Amino acid sequence: RTDPLVLGIESSCDETGIGIVRGTDLLTNTVSSSMEEHVRFGGVIPEIASRAHLDAMVPALQAALAEAGVTLADLDAIAVTSGPGLSGALMVGVSAAKALALATGKPLYAINHLVAHVGVGVLDGGALPENLGALLVSGGHTEILRVADLTSDVELLGSTIDDAAGEAYDKVARILGLGYPGGPAIDRLAREGNPKAIRFPRGLTQPKYMGTAEAPGPHRYDWSFSGLKTAVARCVEQYEAAGQDLPVADIAASFQEAVVDVITAKAVLACTEHGITNLLLGGGVAANSRLRALTEERCSAAGIKLRVPPISLCTDNGAMVAALGAQVVMAGGEPSGIGFGTDPSLPV
Ligand code: KG4
Ligand code: ZN
Repeated sequence: RTDPLVLGIESSCDETGIGIVRGTDLLTNTVSSSMEEHVRFGGVIPEIASRAHLDAMVPALQAALAEAGVTLADLDAIAVTSGPGLSGALMVGVSAAKALALATGKPLYAINHLVAHVGVGVLDGGALPENLGALLVSGGHTEILRVADLTSDVELLGSTIDDAAGEAYDKVARILGLGYPGGPAIDRLAREGNPKAIRFPRGLTQPKYMGTAEAPGPHRYDWSFSGLKTAVARCVEQYEAAGQDLPVADIAASFQEAVVDVITAKAVLACTEHGITNLLLGGGVAANSRLRALTEERCSAAGIKLRVPPISLCTDNGAMVAALGAQVVMAGGEPSGIGFGTDPSLPV
């Protein structure tokens, strides 16, 4: 029996992604983004994203099939992100997938976007290890997951209670006048700054939130970044009120250190307290040089083996949906039919 040929569709945010895999082999990963259309608004506008998905969907499908050298008839299954994400954006991908399934008679699988960020790991290094955790950091999410079984047993250990980490980068970049999306700009600028210049707050690290390993507090493994964003805004205001030049690089470096310090500290804590010995890093912020370095350093100190897929597989894409779909098929999972809906706040 050969491994299943699966086409995956992703449209939960601004990326229209089509991926085709055979089992754990990546055949193609076509991504077109509407980010340029959102730049002038300083954030993703749902209506614009949905329309862009509609424009991009069929050409992206054609391109992906051509690139992989397969036809719809060759497919064993179709997989699509059904949530979480932007409602209208999700609907475009799900409608396209249902139409394809209906026309071809192929089985259709509704895929959880968060779990797909983990499932993509099989495309880079094969089967996922046991005792696996996943740290997902992007413009839409900041989560630490325990992955007992990719297709049936994934548990949310902690998440942000307000802004996602990437969102915090984007908001702070805006405060500093660095444009949108601001993550890469802050990453670059931070290299010239002193991360210890300003001590910004580490959200939810006080004892009342942390508790102890035996008696965990209410937010032991959770993050909060909105207070940090406010602290950066206050800091900028103070410099401006005093008529002083803004030490932009120092602020960027200090902000980044606060984000990365608390993300990595809590992720490693959640892993060690749950017997997790392997960690997969995913999401667009996995491109951040400081996050990569400190995650490596702290995982290594805690005896946790770190896996970071190539960045093209960390940002939103269709290959991750196809990869998880193929895992579900290989595990004998039931197709979802075509009656399922989208769920913007689908839990893991
Ligand atoms: O995964 P992604 O492409 O889309 C979703 O948000 O789902 O992630 C985009 C986010 C943006 O917030 C962007 O500012 C951030 O990832 N980002 C970075 C870096 N590259 C992208 N943040 C910090 N450092 C980077 N090098
Ligand atoms: Zn994502």
